[in-house]
Amino acid sequence: AAAEKGNYAHFMLKEIHEQPGAVRNTMTGRVSEEAAGVTLDRISLTREDLARIGRICIVACGTAYHAGLVGQYVIENLAGLPVDVKVASEFRYNCPLVDDRTLLLVVCQSGETLDTLMSLKEARKKGARILSIVNVIGSSVARESHDVLYTRAGPEIAVASTKAYTAQLIALYEVALQLAALRETMSMPEIEEFKQQMLGLPARIEEALKLSEPLRLFAGEHAQVRDLFFLGRGLDYAVALEGSLKLKELSYIHSEAYPAGELKHGPIALIEKGTVVLALLTQETLYEKMVSNIREVKARGAYVLAIAAEGAPAVDTAADATLRLPAVPALLAPVVAAVPLQLLAYHIAVARGNDVDKPRNLAKSVTVE
Ligand code: G6P
Repeated sequence: AAAEKGNYAHFMLKEIHEQPGAVRNTMTGRVSEEAAGVTLDRISLTREDLARIGRICIVACGTAYHAGLVGQYVIENLAGLPVDVKVASEFRYNCPLVDDRTLLLVVCQSGETLDTLMSLKEARKKGARILSIVNVIGSSVARESHDVLYTRAGPEIAVASTKAYTAQLIALYEVALQLAALRETMSMPEIEEFKQQMLGLPARIEEALKLSEPLRLFAGEHAQVRDLFFLGRGLDYAVALEGSLKLKELSYIHSEAYPAGELKHGPIALIEKGTVVLALLTQETLYEKMVSNIREVKARGAYVLAIAAEGAPAVDTAADATLRLPAVPALLAPVVAAVPLQLLAYHIAVARGNDVDKPRNLAKSVTVE
């Protein structure tokens, strides 16, 4: 197994670095400069099917659920369809509104998560159309679905998901573009422009990976913190949830993600001198609001690390430390912003001497109830 890790100390670190390739492969033959629009393999969703579909429901667990939260935001904004995102273990026991006008989007790396599979079967029984985003070819979820769009992340060995997540985001953008094209909520030039930006993502991820060293230093200094809060707004909140999950899974540090505007409705009571807060700023229209949230927690003694897009103003003076991410359009920012959060969780876990690839109590795929 050591050989398979190549020059990396852990599978997780290797998989984090494989993300440019995972993202590129997930676009191959689907998003290209040569062909107009997007080509979604053999997916047979037509304009007529869509005319019937009134809502989309995204169902998943864990990291795949967090990808689904990004998918909801992107599909609603690009294709103008209402989207719900549900945790599979909840959905499978209560989904009263699912019928033959529902498009169920299943997101699943392994294709074997029991709650996800049972949700799919339940919705199928009720007449829903099932489109799954799956990484493992021929897995149970793939076999039970009407249509499958494979992520091409390659085998993911580390228990904590990294490259499967970013590949899921790409697949969700592809679905959103296809829906937008069929519903004509985006013009062809708008779709081509969005595709151009997507094709630039592997290079942007490469740039984000360079934050590994400063994050390792930060992790060394803060590895013993008791709590860590992640704050973001809009898509940054969805990414904050994933960053917080990664940190909990790997470091065993208590962590929460909050939409920054909700701070004053509770979590600000937990901020005291030295509490570490990680603030995300990739959404241009929300920069100013985030900077005032940073000031609010700073005023209560928090230590703030900001992860901000190039060009986000006033962050350096508000936060204690700032790391810069390459600028990408707001809807695509999660693909780049997730990378430093994965690296942060990784380096903190290493600094604490934890088993990074096999965290305690966790399984790669939860096939039991
Ligand atoms: C487990 C894994 C996570 C994963 C989740 C969902 O909890 O530890 O990394 O996100 O299952 O897995 P799936 O295969 O359904 O995407």
